[in-house]
Amino acid sequence: MIIKQADFVKSAVYERDYPEEINKVEFAFVGRSNVGKSSLINSLTGRRKLAKTSKTPGRTQLINYFKVNNEVYFVDLPGYGFAKVPKEMKQEWGQTMERYLASPRHKLVFVLLDIRRVPSGEDIDMLHWLDHFDIPFKIIFTKMDKVSNNEKFKCLKAIKTKIDFTNDDVLFHSSLSNSGKDEVLEFIGEYLEE
Ligand code: GTP
Ligand code: MG
Repeated sequence: MIIKQADFVKSAVYERDYPEEINKVEFAFVGRSNVGKSSLINSLTGRRKLAKTSKTPGRTQLINYFKVNNEVYFVDLPGYGFAKVPKEMKQEWGQTMERYLASPRHKLVFVLLDIRRVPSGEDIDMLHWLDHFDIPFKIIFTKMDKVSNNEKFKCLKAIKTKIDFTNDDVLFHSSLSNSGKDEVLEFIGEYLEE
């Protein structure tokens, strides 16, 4: 897919806030706080400030809808696993995210994992949950600029002790260098053709 246009549409908490259009495929970005969801959306769309990014985890607290090429939606979801947030607030974000994932919309979920970190319990729960509910998903490893090629394979080995995948099944991306961007866009294009 070649992205020609990308615009913020709206923020949402409840299903009634989601766009009325349900015939467009929604590509949703999930993962722990700070993994790089908003940065990935900006990299893919070539718009540095489209989705708000932050060094402070927990920046995206709402579901943010972006319309791309008037054809699909990109959906930036609140991150999970940020310890410094009060429990009630965490529960609310979790519910916002789960409500979206459980909603009957035509979606493909990108699960973002930091290449340098062994997946957390929440990452693993998320993958099981998507599997269980038969929601199509694709893993993207983020922050690839932070590891050398050698380190990449070491990290993958450690990650594979927690989750099951083959290197051909996953995508790799860096928002700093934009490496892997073409592969993600190609995947989106192919998914839409299926
Ligand atoms: P929440 O909204 O809190 O859930 O975080 P997020 O997953 O949207 O992360 P965000 O895109 O805001 O990025 C978090 C921090 O990581 C920012 O300081 C980014 O600049 C940095 N970051 C994101 N992607 C990359 C990357 O590919 N490489 C490097 N070096 N830094 C990155
Ligand atoms: Mg964000």
